[in-house]
Amino acid sequence: MTLALFSKVLPASRRAGTVLTIAAGLTAVVLFGPQMLRMVTQATPHGPDIPLFLKQPTVIQAHILAAVASVLVGAVILSARKGHTFHRTMGWIWACLMAVTAGSSLFIVGLNGDHWSLIHLLSGWTLVILPFAVWAARKHRVDVHKRAMTGIFWGASIVAGLFTFLPGRLMWTLFMG
Ligand code: HEM
Repeated sequence: MTLALFSKVLPASRRAGTVLTIAAGLTAVVLFGPQMLRMVTQATPHGPDIPLFLKQPTVIQAHILAAVASVLVGAVILSARKGHTFHRTMGWIWACLMAVTAGSSLFIVGLNGDHWSLIHLLSGWTLVILPFAVWAARKHRVDVHKRAMTGIFWGASIVAGLFTFLPGRLMWTLFMG
């Protein structure tokens, strides 16, 4: 795929991502709405449940640590000056963290029994778009690089991150259970 084709695919993938997110949100509300509402009313917010975190399989621990770090590093990159050594160094760190987050998620199942779920589409999308977004930067296609990277940050990190805090999922239990 050339950079020109990649820049055409980006807007369509954003639209698809938005539709998927809304569909997943509505499905969760329709299927589990009353159950989630009950959990929200019984929630007791607290600091992270470290013993519960340590009981998780290594792949889930790695996924959580990389995902949380990628949100923090991503936020720093977006708010700092672009194009200089700091941006480049932090950018590589962020790209590696995102690759670990998306890559590790391929070995996590549960929402859909023993099979991949809809969220794995986001993992596949991230693993495909990420190298192209890095390549765009190396080719000085700043517009394409910016759109792709901000898309991954908001579309994958933030949206997937918020979904993990749905009542009943592990992040909810770690902080609210
Ligand atoms: C702050 C960000 C994130 C946090 C805190 C987080 C946390 C978690 C946790 C705790 C799980 C396993 C337990 C559960 O499903 O409740 C999980 C599963 C998963 N995560 Fe993440 N994650 C984040 C971001 C991402 C991103 C960016 C992607 C994809 C690019 C992703 C893809 C997945 C997938 C595919 C699963 C398996 C879902 C299934 O069971 O089918 N996550 N995540």
